[in-house]
Amino acid sequence: MYSIKMRANNNSKHISGAETMCQFCEIESTVKRYLKKAFYHENGDIDFINFKIEKITQPIQTLSSLVIYQKENENIRSLAYKNNIKDIAIEKALKYIKSETIYRGAIILCAESGERLDTSEYRGIRVTNFSFKNQNNSSILNERVQDALAIATCINSHESVKGELCVSDDLNYTTGYFASNLLGYNRIFNIKNKNTRQGGRVIFVDRSIDIEKYIEFLENKPKLVVY
Ligand code: COA
Repeated sequence: MYSIKMRANNNSKHISGAETMCQFCEIESTVKRYLKKAFYHENGDIDFINFKIEKITQPIQTLSSLVIYQKENENIRSLAYKNNIKDIAIEKALKYIKSETIYRGAIILCAESGERLDTSEYRGIRVTNFSFKNQNNSSILNERVQDALAIATCINSHESVKGELCVSDDLNYTTGYFASNLLGYNRIFNIKNKNTRQGGRVIFVDRSIDIEKYIEFLENKPKLVVY
């Protein structure tokens, strides 16, 4: 198996990214698909594109995808409450998401106190080295939802994680989600206004988590999410 990663910039600003793991014979078609994604992205034109293709040498961990739920007027606070995530942590999370800083990855907060536990400052922690397999060929899953579902499944697979809140920084994509192992992947419509790159991802954890081990899993372990 090979890992394929694409990222595209404009003026050194991140415009789009994508990644998967595939067989040798699928590399060419995947690169073509990602070229299209990079050049025709709603976030704008690009002046730089980077492809990384690597043979996978570590064993791949298989994870079962979270289940997707969607209902009108879903409420972040009531979902968080059911997962024992305190208001103070939600307030902190929303501050990070609404701030002017666009973090390049997720922020990790203590679900009880809202204290930030990762030390990555403006970078954030990125879930990477993963792939998504739509085993049932379910048509409700477009590429964007597949990516988000894969990332949410990896994040919430750890027993010390209480949940995750995500708002896309794509310009006009206003559907966010709250995910947890307990409640699955809950889509939240109109989570932000259109025409803004504001967004972010926050992971709520129990303070007892071995954070270095968790980050190593999110960043480096090859993960296959099966739906
Ligand atoms: N958002 C913003 N900036 C990003 C980024 C992202 N998702 N991914 C990479 N960058 C930028 C950062 O400046 C990064 O430097 P840093 O590590 O100091 O933050 C730099 O590119 C190099 O990153 P690197 O991790 O070496 O890139 P890569 O080529 O190995 O992987 C991606 C690129 C985009 C595939 C990967 O980072 C990623 O985000 N994968 C998962 C998320 C995904 O697929 N998102 C798409 C839509 S949800």
